[in-house]
Amino acid sequence: MSGRNVRDITKDGLYVSQREYYSKTYQSGDPVPWEGAFDGAWLKKAARHKVKDHKPIALEIGTGRGRGARILAEGEYTTVGIDYVLNPLKQASIKKSEAEKNLFYIQANVFNTPFVDGSFDLLLDWGVFHHIRRADTKLFLACVTRLLKKDGRFLLGCFSTRYRHPGEKKRKRNWMRHRGHYDRFSTRKELTKIFSPLFIINSIAQTSEGFYLIDMSLKSSTP
Ligand SMILES: C[S@@+](CC[C@H](N)C(=O)[O-])C[C@H]1O[C@@H](n2cnc3c(N)ncnc32)[C@H](O)[C@@H]1O
Repeated sequence: MSGRNVRDITKDGLYVSQREYYSKTYQSGDPVPWEGAFDGAWLKKAARHKVKDHKPIALEIGTGRGRGARILAEGEYTTVGIDYVLNPLKQASIKKSEAEKNLFYIQANVFNTPFVDGSFDLLLDWGVFHHIRRADTKLFLACVTRLLKKDGRFLLGCFSTRYRHPGEKKRKRNWMRHRGHYDRFSTRKELTKIFSPLFIINSIAQTSEGFYLIDMSLKSSTP
């Protein structure tokens, strides 16, 4: 792979400050700003999809306090939620009920996960991709696609160009620095260009809050 490698990216000043931002936010005890917007109904429906022949296993990257991972685990999936910040994982573990024996949390960086290739039937990302710099898209894709089994599904929730932070003026922009982190805002055309070489796009829809919800399956020919 050309361009940057995992070592470069985990030490990059932008991602270091982004990580500090998440860490401080979770520790502050204040409401966590991104926990308002979340389409649990879409995720529940998408997670109903059956996997033949074996008990399916799912991964949520950037799980935070486990909102998505819990939904996947309520379905049929044995589920692992990873986050590089420990505090929200501790909070999620405390909330874990007796019934959630199929739900596990691990502290790990998406760019350097401890899993072997092809470990998961389904991967969920609600809130990592849209904080990855455009120039680092290829590296992100390489790090996540290797984790999926052939035909594995990738469920992605990400900012569209319609998304506005509270109080943000309407203006054209496709990225911004905001409270110590980077946001990228995508069009349908751009997302299709990024993902369609690797994935069959099963559905893509934009919510009124300015998120794209994409359900895709890894192409069998993907190495
Ligand atoms: C916008 S929040 C979304 C959290 C969660 N998915 C939710 O919807 O509540 C992004 C989360 O991803 C985590 N994160 C960001 N970059 C990451 C990385 N490279 N590796 C692991 N976790 C990461 C952050 O710590 C944060 O918890």
